[in-house]
Amino acid sequence: MRAVVMTAIMLIAAAGPLATGASHAQSSAEALEPPSLERGAELWGKCRACHTLEPQGRHMVGPRLHNLFGRKAGSLPDYRYSEAMKQSGVVWTEETLDAYLAATQEFMPGSKMYGGLAIAQDRVDLIAWLKQQAGK
Ligand code: HEC
Repeated sequence: MRAVVMTAIMLIAAAGPLATGASHAQSSAEALEPPSLERGAELWGKCRACHTLEPQGRHMVGPRLHNLFGRKAGSLPDYRYSEAMKQSGVVWTEETLDAYLAATQEFMPGSKMYGGLAIAQDRVDLIAWLKQQAGK
């Protein structure tokens, strides 16, 4: 009897986060969980070798990403972008950044960046964290 009650409780507990995930589901085919900012902060570890985020951060292999959202791709005057990036006409939003990180060369053929994120949930987490941090 006790075991049955425990099982029931565990099932309810397991259904909780899944149900929330479904109600926040993105338009993507994959069922994505709501963003985890904690995971996003960890995933920044995959970008920081090449990018800074601070207002006065220097360019490294890649350009500074401060105030990224709403910015035209390839628009910082003192960084040497690829022609592909400069001519892309892209404006950075959650959607364009997701597409760029998912499949850089398909989204922007000729971009000189290598360092995307193949897993959709990773992009959800990282982009949410970046939106919070990039304007600070
Ligand atoms: C190995 C180095 C490297 C890594 C790792 C890397 N990038 Fe980049 N990134 C670049 C380079 C180089 C460019 C310039 C691309 C160009 O000019 O085509 C760039 C450009 C960008 C841009 C365009 C910025 C602008 O000013 O328009 C964004 C956004 C970006 N990266 C995000 C990321 C994110 C987010 C990550 C982590 C998931 C990441 N990058 C990982 C090297 C890197």
